[in-house]
Amino acid sequence: MAKPGILRITARCAVAGILVFSSLVKAEGQTGEQVFTTCSACHLATGAGIPGAFPPLTKLPDLYAKEGGKDYLISVVLQGLSGPIQSQGTGYNGFMQAFGSSLTDTEIAAVLAYVLTEIASPGLQQGSQITASDVSQIREKIANGQWKSSHELRSALTMP
Ligand code: HEC
Repeated sequence: MAKPGILRITARCAVAGILVFSSLVKAEGQTGEQVFTTCSACHLATGAGIPGAFPPLTKLPDLYAKEGGKDYLISVVLQGLSGPIQSQGTGYNGFMQAFGSSLTDTEIAAVLAYVLTEIASPGLQQGSQITASDVSQIREKIANGQWKSSHELRSALTMP
């Protein structure tokens, strides 16, 4: 009669394990790949975008490499972007919402890393240097009104 008892205990441990695991996943937030499913609604799963409507994310390493490029990319996800831009020879004058209140610093750093290494072509070989702490510093400056709009930041980058 020992066997069914052991089975019951094993089953209970498994259930407890699953509960602990799912709460850990929740506490740590979404991975970059998971966050990207939100972005891909507009920028597409390939990151190619839709000419004239949603700019491509496949050439973001070019922007990232510029002075101020890292801060610009963080700023777009935190506070959104609106106003006329040129990307790969095509004009855009749309509106992207801010994700600062729906994504954590870690999730924003993770989704940018995912885009820069996995979606971009060619992707960054050495990995992204954007950290959650970079995001948190910019988040704080935005909250204190010490930060420019994403559009102003982009205009200050010299475009390819
Ligand atoms: C509802 C549609 C939509 C969603 C969702 C969206 N974007 Fe955007 N995104 C846009 C539009 C539109 C623009 C261009 C805005 C403009 O014309 O000024 C843009 C611009 C950008 C740019 C600037 C590109 C450049 O060339 O400077 C980046 C970076 C970006 N998005 C990243 C993201 C990431 C990362 C996510 C997911 C967290 C995301 N977007 C989700 C619509 C969207």
